Amino acid sequence: MSAPEKRANATTKKAPKKAAGKTSRAYHEEEAIGRVYDASLLRRLYPFIRPHVRLIVISLALLLLLASTQLVRPLLMGRVVSHAAKGEGDALLRDGILLAVFVVGSQVLSFLQTYIMQVAGARAMADLRSEVFAFFQKLSLRYFDRTPVGRLVTRATGDVDALGELFASGVLNAIGDLVGLVGIVIVMLALHVKLSLIAFVALPFVLVVVSFVRRRSRDAFREIRTKTARLNAFLNEQVSGIAVVQAYAREEKMQADFDVINESYREVNKRSIFYEALLDAAIEMVSTVCVASMLFWAGFSRAGDPTITFPLVVTFTQYIRQFFEPVSLLAQRYTILQSAMTGAERIFELFDEKDVEALGRKNGAQEAAADAAAIELSNVSFSYKPGVPTLVDVSLRIEKGEKVALVGATGAGKSTVASLALRLYDVNEGKVLVMGRDVRDQDRVKMRESFAVVPQDVFLFAGTVLSNIGISDETPNRARAEEALRQIGAYELFEKREGGLDAPVDERGANYSAGERQLLAFARALYRDTPIVVLDEATASIDSNTERKMQKALDAVMAGRTALVIAHRLSTIRAVDRIVVFHKGHIVETGTHEELLSKNGVYARLHRLQFAREKLEKVAGESVSPIEVSPS
Ligand SMILES: Nc1ncnc2c1ncn2[C@@H]1O[C@H](COP(=O)(O)OP(=O)(O)OP(=O)(O)O)[C@@H](O)[C@H]1O
Ligand SMILES: [Mg+2]
Repeated sequence: MSAPEKRANATTKKAPKKAAGKTSRAYHEEEAIGRVYDASLLRRLYPFIRPHVRLIVISLALLLLLASTQLVRPLLMGRVVSHAAKGEGDALLRDGILLAVFVVGSQVLSFLQTYIMQVAGARAMADLRSEVFAFFQKLSLRYFDRTPVGRLVTRATGDVDALGELFASGVLNAIGDLVGLVGIVIVMLALHVKLSLIAFVALPFVLVVVSFVRRRSRDAFREIRTKTARLNAFLNEQVSGIAVVQAYAREEKMQADFDVINESYREVNKRSIFYEALLDAAIEMVSTVCVASMLFWAGFSRAGDPTITFPLVVTFTQYIRQFFEPVSLLAQRYTILQSAMTGAERIFELFDEKDVEALGRKNGAQEAAADAAAIELSNVSFSYKPGVPTLVDVSLRIEKGEKVALVGATGAGKSTVASLALRLYDVNEGKVLVMGRDVRDQDRVKMRESFAVVPQDVFLFAGTVLSNIGISDETPNRARAEEALRQIGAYELFEKREGGLDAPVDERGANYSAGERQLLAFARALYRDTPIVVLDEATASIDSNTERKMQKALDAVMAGRTALVIAHRLSTIRAVDRIVVFHKGHIVETGTHEELLSKNGVYARLHRLQFAREKLEKVAGESVSPIEVSPS
C-alpha cells in the first residue's frame, strides 16, 4: 500500500467510529480537548494496563524490530538494482529472494505487532468499562438525579473508546516511527552526507505546513465533537419523544430544526476534510520536491562525483518516501492522543465522584428493641435540593404487621417517604429506622431484602415476563411466578399472550400497556415474599373492574405483612389500619377512614372528589384517569 493510500484508509476508518462513539452528551457541554500528556492520568491508567503490560512490551519490541527491517529494505533494493544493472544473475537472484523474504517478514511482524497491541488494548478497555459500570452501581441516586443519562452512557462507551484508540489507531506506533525517522537520517548521512543534505532541503517547509494545518484541523476536530454531541442529543430527544412530536404535528418544525444542526455538522466536517486533504497533498508535494532535488543534484554532479551511483539514488528515493509516511500520520495521531487524554480525564473524574451510595454501618450493629416498629421516621426533614424542603419534621411509626396508607396531593412527599424507608436517599435531619435499627447502621443489601416495592414508575427490563417477575432470583421459579400472577388475578391475561410466561419483554417494557406493566410489578413484589411491602400508586393504571378483582388479592398480599400503600384511589386503601394525610411535606391528619371522614378535613375533601369521579366512571363504564386534587 502506498503512503497516501494508507493515510486515506486510516482516516476513513476512524471517522465514523468517532461519530458513533460520542452519544447523546448534553449538547451544551463543550468538548474540551485536554493536554496531550498528563503524568497523573497515566499513573491512574496504569492499573488497567498493568495486567496486559507483557503483551504491550512484546508489541513494542516487535515494533522496533519492524522499524529496523524497514531500514534495511531500501539498502537491499539498491543492491538488487545494482546487480541488475551489472547483469550479475546469481547475485540478483540471491538478493531478490532476500528482499522478498524481508518484505514478507516485515508484513508478518507488522501483523503480529498490530494484533498483539490491539488485543492488549481491547482487554484493558474492557476492564476499564467494567470498572465504570461497577462504579455506576455504587453511585447514589442523588448523583443520577443531577446527571443526564447520556453523559453516563458516554463515560462507559465514548470516553473509553477514545482512550482505546490509543491502542487501536497505533498511536503508540509513533515510538517506532520516531526510531525509524532517526534511523533513516543516520543511514542516509552515513551513505552520502552531501546528497542527504540536499534531499532534506525542503524539510523546514514541512514543519511549517504541519504545524499550520495541525492547529486548524485540531480546532475543526474539536468542533466536530461538539456538533456530534449536539446532533446526538437532538436525535435522542426526538426519538424518545416521537409520540408527542407526531401527536402535536411537529414533524416539519423538527425536521427544519434538525436540518440546521445537520448543516452545521456538515460544514465543520467539510473543513476538517479540507485540512486533512491539504496536509496529505502538501506532504506528498514536499516529499516529491525532496526526491526531485535529490535527483537533480545527483544528475547534475554525477560526472564529477563517482560516489553518486545509480543504486544509491534508488536507495535514497526509497528512504525519502519512507521518511514522509509517518510525518503525515503525526498530525492525526496527535489529535487522537489528545482525545484519549480527554477521555481518561473524564473517566477518572467520574471515579473521583464522592456521591457514592453510603454502605452504612456507621455505628455497627445494634440490637433492635423487641417492640420496635417495622418502619419509623423520627423527626425527619429532607430535601432533594438544598433550600427546597420536601419533608419537614415528619414522624411516622408503622408497627409490624400494620397497614398504613399515605394520601395527599401531588408533590406532597408521599413517594419520598418510601424512598427514605428504602434508604435510596439519606435524611438531612432526624432518622429512619427499619425493624428498630437506623438504616444508616444496617447493611443496605440485607436491609432491602425485607422490602418488596411496586414503584410509581414501573420499570421492566428487557427479557421475558418470567425474568421480570422473578427479578430477585438468579433463576426465576416458574411455579412461584405463576402463583404470584394468579394471586393478583392476572394469570389468564399473561398466559393467553403468545409465549405465556416466556413472552418477550422489550426494553423498558415498551410492548406492554401501562396497566400490564403495573400488574407485572405487582407480581414481582408478591414473588419476592418479604415482611414489608411498599405499594406506590399500585392501582392507578388499572380499570375499576380489574381493580375490584385485585382488591382481594391485595388484601391477601398485605395479610401478615407490614404494608405502606401510597394511592390516589381512596377505594384501594379502605382496608388499611391507618391513613396518613400529607400536605406540602407535612403530616396534616392521621386516622382511620371513618375518623378522618368525621373530621371533615383534607381527607374528607379528597374523598368527596373521588366519590364524584367514581360515579362518573360507573356511567362511562371505564377508568377515568386520576384527578389531581389539592386539599387547599
Ligand atoms: N429526584 C428528585 N429530585 C428533585 N426533586 C424531587 C425529586 N423527586 C421528587 N422531587 C420533588 O419532591 C417533592 C415531593 O415529591 P414526591 O415524589 O414525594 O411526591 P408525591 O407525594 O409522591 O407526589 P405524587 O402523588 O404526584 O406521586 C415534589 O415537589 C417533587 O417535585
Ligand atoms: Mg409519588
